[in-house]
Amino acid sequence: MDRIRIVGGRPLRGTIPISGAKNATLPLMIASLLTEETLVLENVPRLADVSQLQRILGNHGVDVTLNGKRSGDGEYQGQTLSLSAKNIVDTTAPYELVSKMRASFWVIGPLLARMGQARVSMPGGCAIGTRPVDLLIMALARLGAEIEIDGGYVVARAAKGLKGGEIRFPSVTVSGTHTAIMAASLARGSTRIENAACEPEIVDLADCLNKMGARISGAGTPRILVDGVARLGGARHRVLPDRIETGTYAIAAAMTGGEVLLEGARPELLQSALDLLAQAGVGVAATNQGVRISRNGSAIAPVEVSTAPFPGFPTDLQAQLMALMTCANGVSRITETIFENRFMHVQELVRLGARIQLHGETATIEGIERLKGAPVMATDLRASVSLVIAGLAAEGETIVNRVYHLDRGFERLEEKLGRCGAEIERLSG
Ligand code: EPZ
Repeated sequence: MDRIRIVGGRPLRGTIPISGAKNATLPLMIASLLTEETLVLENVPRLADVSQLQRILGNHGVDVTLNGKRSGDGEYQGQTLSLSAKNIVDTTAPYELVSKMRASFWVIGPLLARMGQARVSMPGGCAIGTRPVDLLIMALARLGAEIEIDGGYVVARAAKGLKGGEIRFPSVTVSGTHTAIMAASLARGSTRIENAACEPEIVDLADCLNKMGARISGAGTPRILVDGVARLGGARHRVLPDRIETGTYAIAAAMTGGEVLLEGARPELLQSALDLLAQAGVGVAATNQGVRISRNGSAIAPVEVSTAPFPGFPTDLQAQLMALMTCANGVSRITETIFENRFMHVQELVRLGARIQLHGETATIEGIERLKGAPVMATDLRASVSLVIAGLAAEGETIVNRVYHLDRGFERLEEKLGRCGAEIERLSG
């Protein structure tokens, strides 16, 4: 199993190109199930989750082709995927596939809307909490689906097609909102989604669906209206830049000191995180090439923050922020409100010398002068990358085990950091 070796203490200096967003790419790929025409996605990141979803969609009959590089493409140019679901050959998503990647459960909406039936394995527990799918099921039921749970599978039927309705989410859910939008696009009549998630990835999906012929308005606000259409067509869509990758490298630059241009980043996609970094004393400047992050010698001020749905501070940056605050000049408090048990990084950061106390959903972090390198391991993507960030700033050598978590969500991480002066390498086997 690959590991990453880091020798910490070098400031990051240079340019880091930001890839297309993983969490936009996955629902966009799934949206290809809604049409028999070809959906072309540009700026798709090269990630293990993308390859895994290609296999899952292939199982339903989606032909996925990868367009090669064109002359003039930059070194870090995203890939172009063409997805063609001309014939859906299977409406079952088996346990072996869904259990490997939660987001593959989301095929249930498009399969049901287009084929009138879907049988999708329940995803089960995962490293960051129980993560149920009850709200996705509720949304589909509101659109007229009959649903039963059978042998660990959600079996959904709508023999005469879905029909529009009102979906009111009791709490904000990204997966629920994606599912509701996709299903309602092919339902008869209008759907109103209340308390919808406002995440930029929802807006990206709605934009793409509208290019495919859907009639969705209000994406990016808590009320989304969808006028169902009889069929959707093909489209070409460019995936938006990854706000979590942006925030991760911003925090890495802040932690190590130095100055980094996050090329192609869009600051409005993570304004709350950038504001928090500025509050902590980090230099943040939007430029027409992206976002410039700098910290030259100044101390990091402690912060108090709770994770929240967009536009609040994202749960997907909580672990990285905690790594930064281990070396702040005082006591920080970080509260996780989205997922229970998303604190796997705490014990590992403590192995690097961090002083962190957990009380329920709140971590209290007492800043120290310097972390010290050690072997560490984490069981989810964002926790793993927080350990990389900590390792970049720690004294001596850090080995991050179970690198496959990082490969799920960060494209060429060690290359991008290495080009900015980090001493980081992948050890194979
Ligand atoms: C998406 O997960 C992201 N995944 C997550 O990123 C991200 O952390 C999360 O949104 C919140 O921003 C992808 O986009 C692929 P939710 P999702 O539905 O959609 C509860 C990463 O590291 N809930 O908004 O699954 C749920 O348990 C990942 O890239 C129910 O109770 O998140 C959670 O507590 C991790 N019932 C809360 O809602 C449901 O039916 C928010 O979940 C659905 C969700």
